[in-house]
Amino acid sequence: MGSWRIIMRPLFAARSHIATLRPTAQVAPNVLCRLQSSHAASFATTARRSRGPIEKLEIVNGGIAIKPAAGTIAKRHVLPGLWLRDNCRCSSCVNQDTMQRNFNTFDIPRNIRPEKVEPTEVGIGVTWADGHRSEYPWSFLQFYQNSNHREPEPLQRHYWGAEASDKPPTVAYDKVMLPDDSGVAELTAKIKEHGFAFVEGTPYDDPEDTRVLLERIAFIRLTHYGGFYDFTPNLAMADTAYTNIALPAHTDTTYFTDPAGLQSFHLLSHQNAPGVSSDDAAAGGKSLLVDGFNAARILKTQDPKSYDILSKVRLPWHASGNEGITIAPDKRYPVLELDQETGELHRVRWNNDDRGVVPFTEEYSPDKWYDAARKWDSILRRKDVECWVQLEPGKPLIFDNWRVLHGRSAFSGIRRICGAYITRDDYISRWRNTNFPRSDILERIIG
Ligand SMILES: [Fe+2]
Ligand SMILES: [Zn+2]
Repeated sequence: MGSWRIIMRPLFAARSHIATLRPTAQVAPNVLCRLQSSHAASFATTARRSRGPIEKLEIVNGGIAIKPAAGTIAKRHVLPGLWLRDNCRCSSCVNQDTMQRNFNTFDIPRNIRPEKVEPTEVGIGVTWADGHRSEYPWSFLQFYQNSNHREPEPLQRHYWGAEASDKPPTVAYDKVMLPDDSGVAELTAKIKEHGFAFVEGTPYDDPEDTRVLLERIAFIRLTHYGGFYDFTPNLAMADTAYTNIALPAHTDTTYFTDPAGLQSFHLLSHQNAPGVSSDDAAAGGKSLLVDGFNAARILKTQDPKSYDILSKVRLPWHASGNEGITIAPDKRYPVLELDQETGELHRVRWNNDDRGVVPFTEEYSPDKWYDAARKWDSILRRKDVECWVQLEPGKPLIFDNWRVLHGRSAFSGIRRICGAYITRDDYISRWRNTNFPRSDILERIIG
């Protein structure tokens, strides 16, 4: 059964064609047309390489039926005509520079039918009633015969707790600055996997070097606080982050519809308060990191009801500390945002100080939410969940603010810290483009 022939015969009407792929032993007697042997041979090669992708190809009401080769199954045989025509990627249908669609989908008749369909060396060719020709590769056809949509890149997420401080993910500054982007690939991949990374060997005399480093990932996000920041404690900005008190684990910008994707801190210098030695535990202060996805996983295992409450009760969040500014997200958001399709945790939003009034819902009273949040808060404060790190000049910390909560112990003296936010979409785009070939990326994100 190793050899294949492509045969074509008319089907229901003169305008319809069927192309059938069969092992030579099963060639039907009513063969009317045999494709040129060279074409057949090259297609047979493709067919063998992919274990014979199809047995039968025909125009049917509603689209094109592709029957997979014997021994393989497909979730759906018929791919709709309008859907296929809409997904033509030829150079007249898609602008090859911008990858944008170049035609109005709604100019296509809703019941468009192919005139002719035939196998090609790499997939199928379709000729439409208006003479337009489209080609679809096997990889595209087979994917949608078996799947409903493309999925995001698979991610091997590494969950962590206190032990992450022993050997935190770290990338060398010199590598990140290499023009070939290999260091950016490594840095963004580490942040994607672990939720955070340090960049070792960063110059710290001038905060400008940190800004340039962060811009290797993507441009800096402007907020009502400004863009790249370089601060010493004072209350001018009316936010507790600008003082030297301890801060419990939280995520930043819970009050944005699209909270900051990445957050970074670089401790440029620390001067001890008069009379306080640097050995004093309180002098330097330590930074706290909590893997919010790990904490949520613990909550889900130990107390699924609380997990459910924190994922369902949608709360108001706000930033109102600056005159003339009141920022709130486009709608209320829960602490644990789940993916609507998969039910998987998507984003953690947690800053108890920026939270508004707990609402009354049909399903849960505020008491239920407080109980669930108390449980969540107690997990975030567990010794095995809290990861304490010492910020040092030359070692900026960059972390995923949708996953990792941060905080700090109290400190004395004057710390100079710089950093910035980077938007999630821009960071992910940079991660994709430095870690995967462009063709793979386009296939995944366009479909
Ligand atoms: Fe913060
Ligand atoms: Zn086209």
